[in-house]
Amino acid sequence: MRSTVVLAYSGGLDTSVCLRWLQEKYDADVIAVTLDLGQQDDLKEIGKRALLLGARNHYEIDAKEEFVSNYVHPAIKANALYEGKYPLSTALGRPLISEKLVEVAEKEGADAVAHGCTGKGNDQVRMDITVRAMNPALKVIAPVREWNMTRDEEILYAQAHNIPIKPSRSIYSVDQNVWGRSIEGGPLEQPDTEPPAQVFEWTTPAEDAPDAPGYLDLEFFEGIPVKANGNDMSPLDLIQFVNKFVGSHGVGIIDQIEDRLVGIKSREVYECPAAVAIIEAHRDLEKLVLTRHELTFKAGVEQEWAWLVYSGLWLEPLRLALDQFIDTTQRRVSGNVRLKLFKGGMRVVGRSSENSIYRQGLSTYSKGSTFDQKSAVGFIELWGLQSRVAASKMKRRKVTKSGYPREKAQAIR
Ligand code: ARG
Repeated sequence: MRSTVVLAYSGGLDTSVCLRWLQEKYDADVIAVTLDLGQQDDLKEIGKRALLLGARNHYEIDAKEEFVSNYVHPAIKANALYEGKYPLSTALGRPLISEKLVEVAEKEGADAVAHGCTGKGNDQVRMDITVRAMNPALKVIAPVREWNMTRDEEILYAQAHNIPIKPSRSIYSVDQNVWGRSIEGGPLEQPDTEPPAQVFEWTTPAEDAPDAPGYLDLEFFEGIPVKANGNDMSPLDLIQFVNKFVGSHGVGIIDQIEDRLVGIKSREVYECPAAVAIIEAHRDLEKLVLTRHELTFKAGVEQEWAWLVYSGLWLEPLRLALDQFIDTTQRRVSGNVRLKLFKGGMRVVGRSSENSIYRQGLSTYSKGSTFDQKSAVGFIELWGLQSRVAASKMKRRKVTKSGYPREKAQAIR
């Protein structure tokens, strides 16, 4: 009996070659699935392409809103940046794509799901883990991992099998959704070389950005942006608007050496205008309303959250537990932040909140201070107590660096 395989199909080179390959090597009926995560591709075209390449059926699933509410919003609350820079745009999309593949596979009674991830990256880990956690009976096929073709060989395979491709775009591997664009491959593999301008699609080159600064006012409610420049917007519209606005000022490019889960270091280039602006603003607002104790502890939680999501463990119970902690902190994270953008630069220039714990009376250097400066003396006395005692001991040079009496240390040596 012919097997049925549900393939995550983006319409690009890898997954187009996969579609053919599954029919050829596995003698499988292929059902192609394309999710709309806000990547701005023409899904109708992609569907036509899938059928042209012999897919039995094509599913087009609009998951944009679900992606924003269930994946991007928790990432905003977590200020999620892997290795301090990457907003996890690709990483957040993978579990949702996997979830939808499983749903279609169950509906169609398929034997397996397939994806176009390579054996060198993080995406295979994210997808395999999520699919297998959701339905252990489904087989996962990753043709690219099995066939071990280079990108050039894929292009040859495509030409030999009448798979239409755009060779100019095919040197790069691009993944995009509403939270960002990831660009890899080709000349970007030289970490010492500036990315060619043509890889960027969402950001204006800083030198061509407007000559006047742009201001972006973001209003947050319980950790989530709800208004941009004074306008109520749906969660999805807001992110799309911010992408355009921030990108037009040349802000949003990330260029970093990244540690992949499988141990490879790679040069990654991203365009994530909305993500960098929203996280910058959100983090700033948190500084206004949360205590230093909350902020310090949350910074550790954020790192762990980003690591779990990057490393494919979206479904890990720890991630859910961290979300509970984060959500508790976010109840007070409501207010406004103003960002100033100018020719590739961005900075927060103002913030306000009903829940602000900033008190000008306490911080002012001018008249009207409510802070009793005399109380600082007693505070300093106690705060520095142990450090002072230790310092005085070391000064007398009677002790080694580790604090051990010199004579005794010598006797032992
Ligand atoms: N390094 C990023 C990540 O692991 C981006 C991966 C991009 N994927 C791609 N197909 N180009 O999340």
